[in-house]
Amino acid sequence: MKNKTSIQGSWASRWIFILAATGSAVGLGNIWKFPYITGENGGGAFVLVYLACILLVGIPIMMAEVFIGRRARKNPINALSDLAEESEGTRKWGIIGVMGMLSGVLIFSFYSVVGGWVLHYIIAMLTGDMANVTSDQAGDAFGALLANPMTLLGWHTLFSIMTIVVVAAGINKGIETATRIMMPALFVLLIVLLGYAMTTGGFAQGWDFMFHFDFGQLTWNAALIALGHSFFTLSLGMGTIMAYGSYMTKNASIGKTVLTIGALDTVVALVAGLAIFPVIFANGMDPAAGPGLMFISLPVAFGQMPFGQLFGTLFFVLVGVAAWTSAISLLEPTVAFLVERFKMKRITASIGLGLVVWALGIACLGSFNFMSDVTFFGKNTFDFLDYITANIMLPLGGILIALFAGWVVKDKFAQDELNLSSTVFKLWNVSMKFTAPVAIAIVLYFLINPLQ
Ligand code: PHE
Repeated sequence: MKNKTSIQGSWASRWIFILAATGSAVGLGNIWKFPYITGENGGGAFVLVYLACILLVGIPIMMAEVFIGRRARKNPINALSDLAEESEGTRKWGIIGVMGMLSGVLIFSFYSVVGGWVLHYIIAMLTGDMANVTSDQAGDAFGALLANPMTLLGWHTLFSIMTIVVVAAGINKGIETATRIMMPALFVLLIVLLGYAMTTGGFAQGWDFMFHFDFGQLTWNAALIALGHSFFTLSLGMGTIMAYGSYMTKNASIGKTVLTIGALDTVVALVAGLAIFPVIFANGMDPAAGPGLMFISLPVAFGQMPFGQLFGTLFFVLVGVAAWTSAISLLEPTVAFLVERFKMKRITASIGLGLVVWALGIACLGSFNFMSDVTFFGKNTFDFLDYITANIMLPLGGILIALFAGWVVKDKFAQDELNLSSTVFKLWNVSMKFTAPVAIAIVLYFLINPLQ
């Protein structure tokens, strides 16, 4: 055990790992999805459950994923198998990695459709198409985009190609460069937007909506969505962080690193919410508008502020980059597996996988037009894939990873990687053995058997 490096290479330093993992974590989940699901689930109480899930379930599981990857220095399937063997368990644990790779493929197929919307909005902002739109006009423009499969296909294809190119280029050249400059820039622009939101007159209402905890509002379904989102937003439960961990240097502290990533991800989501909801309320729009929320509210905001065209363009460019660095990380575990297990060339593996996810994406973009009557359990393909991956597959992956790290891997091996003080290690261990799996199981149980 304890291989020195992965055959894929390694991050230049602890900071590069933080950047890359943050690049994976911060994405459409934070800026697009978090605000709209908060809106759909009534605000405050949902936000509180989400924060609790990040802290109590997400962070400890992220530590587990990083150490599993770093100890084995292999793709998630082989990492889980090797670590199981080292602790005298069965290699069958690798199956969690298989499920994770499937999740990655399914998530990518709708993720890149939304990535495509973002690319479309960059151009719409740049050309001034959206200047001074009213909220109704912005809603119509978004509706018109969704109704047009060829436009959607074009953008989805471009987004898929951009992603495949970087994955094919490998971890150092591709992923690092994109993250280093763009992440800080995205943050600065979010603050600018937040500043604007404060001037809209809707800020108090927006704040109240997000931080006023009314537990009467909370349903098991909302709790499940909050839990599922904590996995989605931190890129957990599917092997991404394991794969990235396998490129991490040995001397870096896993605990501190993971806390930094979790904090950055959470702050971006909260600031995005605080930038969007005031605009919604100030313009009398509906916070529960669903997936179009950001695409309808922000053009209105940019249309009204000085230099809105410039800021609007920049903003969508940065959201595009955030989506891009996340999309890359959805494919990385599977590409690493194909390269290591079947000795494929990275470029062949990337293109092959890319074609599969691109084709699946067509079914997702068709959900809004030519395939709108195809439904699974009452949801269109796009919503269905979003729902089962984030709310079922990732939490299930999370339970299994926690049980694996807590019960299968011997404490001495875990502690050898994590290097925590003995109290913190005990807390982490209890969370892996009991708290995290039980919490996830309860939420899943009540989803299947709702209370009256
Ligand atoms: N965390 C990413 C986001 O919030 C999405 C993602 C999920 C990426 C799972 C990789 C793995 O947008």
